Amino acid sequence: LSAQKDGYRYFMEKEIYEQSLVVGETLMGRIKDNSIILDELSSLDLAHIDAIKICACGTSYHAALSACYMFERLAKIRCNVEIASEFRYKEPLLDTKTLFIVISQSGETADTLEALKMAKQSGMRTLAICNVDNSSIVRTADMTILTRAGIEKGVASTKAFATQVITLWLLTLYVGEHKKSMDALTLQSEIAALLRVPLILKVSETTHEKIRRLSKRYLHGHGFFFIGRDIFYPLALEGALKLKEISYLHAEGYPAGEMKHGPIALADSELFTIALMPKNLLYDKMKSNVEELSARDSTLLVISPEPFELADDFIKTKPHTHMMGEFFEMMLITQLLALEISIRLGNDVDMPRNLAKSVTVE
Ligand code: AGP
Repeated sequence: LSAQKDGYRYFMEKEIYEQSLVVGETLMGRIKDNSIILDELSSLDLAHIDAIKICACGTSYHAALSACYMFERLAKIRCNVEIASEFRYKEPLLDTKTLFIVISQSGETADTLEALKMAKQSGMRTLAICNVDNSSIVRTADMTILTRAGIEKGVASTKAFATQVITLWLLTLYVGEHKKSMDALTLQSEIAALLRVPLILKVSETTHEKIRRLSKRYLHGHGFFFIGRDIFYPLALEGALKLKEISYLHAEGYPAGEMKHGPIALADSELFTIALMPKNLLYDKMKSNVEELSARDSTLLVISPEPFELADDFIKTKPHTHMMGEFFEMMLITQLLALEISIRLGNDVDMPRNLAKSVTVE
């Protein structure tokens, strides 16, 4: 992967387009004969592990939240996620039967590194999911799985997130397989779904062009709500973070079912709702949440394979048989939407104001 923009307008755009390729790298050599191969974990005795705790910041925290749904649903192992800067000072109760995972693109995030040190001191087994070999976090953790995203230059993380979620999905299947908490058929169909992701992440020029045209309608207003349910909730958080980092517009990610407990009071035509409506997960629940917002006049952009008559704008996704296929296609769409809005606003996409690529101070 070259360190130039290679004809793309920004590194972020190039990195969005690279995702199909780098996710292939993440998977390379890690699936064989319907089994997950993670030699990095050869020293880990899963018989002594009955729970997982994950600590991270920012986008890596959103990958952690996504993983939590996968660990509990597929590997049937308890999982809990904490923001590293919160974890550090809360005097957490730590248990040596819990595997402690940190996620970090850079491997240098100060809060994540300190959380890792605390876990190590308490005698927990520690695992880093990281993109940079030989970084401080990699050197500190007992074990590391590298995400192999290649150098990420855009401050707003894209391919790092995709490869983190893929790595965590692999890890979930590895845990399920080794703890025998997942049956062979499920493992087989999960592997088949994983292997389809590189293709799903190929950017279609038509979709990109549609998003580019549509973005001009989303340059004002008094805020954005990205809403989703289940694993699409962390994706909503990530979509909102992308948008605010590079567009400087106010955006929040929210669990769709929670809107009626307060935020729906903000709804009017100047409030933009970006609704993630996958077909394979809680579609009807999501539909009724979105109908409530439409009834309060919120401007709706629906991302779904299913046309939605109340939507002001609609981005049609492909039909997928697995929720993670929908997850990755929607991730791509929200990244492109943030990119195009930011470009129209004339912002520096790769170096947004007030932000640094890695936060090495507290
Ligand atoms: C992502 O777009 C951000 N720039 C930021 O939230 C980042 O994910 C966070 O600072 C954590 O960084 P790390 O993954 O390198 O630890």
